[in-house]
Amino acid sequence: MADPSRRTPGSPDSRPEFVSLTLDRRRFLLLLGGAAAYASLPPALARAARHAARAAPQPWTLPDALPAGPIESARALIGAAILAPSYWNSQPWRFEVDAAEMRLTLDHARTMPACDPDQRFTQMSLGAALENLLVAARAWGQRPSVQYLPWGAPALPGAPLVAARITWEPGEQRRDRALFLALGARRSNPRHYDGRAITMQDRAQLLAQVPEELNLHWLDDRAEIRRVALLVHDATLARSRDAVGQGERFRWLRMSDGDARRTGDGITPERLGLAGPLGWLAAHALRPGGHAFAWGVGSVAHEAADAVRSSGALALLSAPRRQDPTFLMAGQAYERLALKATTLGLAQQPLSAPVESEPHRAMLAKRFGAAGEDPLLLVRLGHAHAPDPMPRRAVALVSTYRAS
Ligand SMILES: Cc1cc2nc3c(=O)[nH]c(=O)nc-3n(C[C@H](O)[C@H](O)[C@H](O)COP(=O)(O)O)c2cc1C
Repeated sequence: MADPSRRTPGSPDSRPEFVSLTLDRRRFLLLLGGAAAYASLPPALARAARHAARAAPQPWTLPDALPAGPIESARALIGAAILAPSYWNSQPWRFEVDAAEMRLTLDHARTMPACDPDQRFTQMSLGAALENLLVAARAWGQRPSVQYLPWGAPALPGAPLVAARITWEPGEQRRDRALFLALGARRSNPRHYDGRAITMQDRAQLLAQVPEELNLHWLDDRAEIRRVALLVHDATLARSRDAVGQGERFRWLRMSDGDARRTGDGITPERLGLAGPLGWLAAHALRPGGHAFAWGVGSVAHEAADAVRSSGALALLSAPRRQDPTFLMAGQAYERLALKATTLGLAQQPLSAPVESEPHRAMLAKRFGAAGEDPLLLVRLGHAHAPDPMPRRAVALVSTYRAS
């Protein structure tokens, strides 16, 4: 395994010019608008904004070996699965365990029908959880096998939608150890990266995580990255015009780390690139129908584009042909890529905004030379310090066990 400590992410002397803070007219107006709104806050609210607590890390450690006993081992595997990334940290997963198998099922209450009408991001989230589970099983010396089930067809009316059935038995050797060690350290990193390029060797290792059924297209030309940044900006603005979708997104926004810890899910303003008191204000402005809505959405779009511009490279995960488990497999592939990036000391962040609408998908595919393919997820890669972890709901809340 490559030593993650061999990098010095974000070392100031390696920072290129384009990520230094420039106050262009647009950003100045955004800040001015925010400052005015901030100044008009009641004192108690302003204090709360200043003292927004940092997230306390949850115990993100896993045992070094599979615990004995069927229930204990299933619990440990689920403990690995829930560390997976998910769309808006919605964690749309449930796990049903019985003597014969484990079933990964969809938690309907955690889906976002307006933002994700074909449930591609929901399925990718389940796929990421599945991959974590498989990585842990292999690292613990097990041989897991997976049966994918048709999406959208519960066996009985009212029954949960089962995405996959998983079984495991002892294998000959431990595999996937390097990725396993990254399970607790992987983060979706929304920060500005320092612009350093990704080496050919690292790129090859990332590409190797993607199965034959999918493609990973790569961009590291600075002019091309800037063009994609514009696309991300426009897509972020465009999606906010759908009030229902915006309402769904707002539902997963947690205004403080304390709120996120209490619910164990959702994302904080910082994860949208809205750091500090102004960011906190901009996040509040995202409430649909609010008087500062345009300013809030503009801030998110502006920050997203700036973040993309600071990337060392962009990768587009796409499918040449879509079959039933494509989205699930895409989640698995993305998670392997994210874990591999972690072992290489690279920062990464998935970006769904430019993949949420058909017109932007087509433009994105064209930019990456993937016309005719189905873009699944845009990922920015680079070098930056890791953010604090986002909270998770406990294993006990997302799993049920039956003895027979
Ligand atoms: C399918 C999918 C889409 C995602 N889209 C975005 C996105 O557009 N922007 C973003 O910052 N994070 C995105 N994420 C990352 C989640 O926000 C992140 O996984 C979640 O907040 C938990 O944080 P963590 O990944 O650091 O554990 C996405 C994750 C998945 C699985």
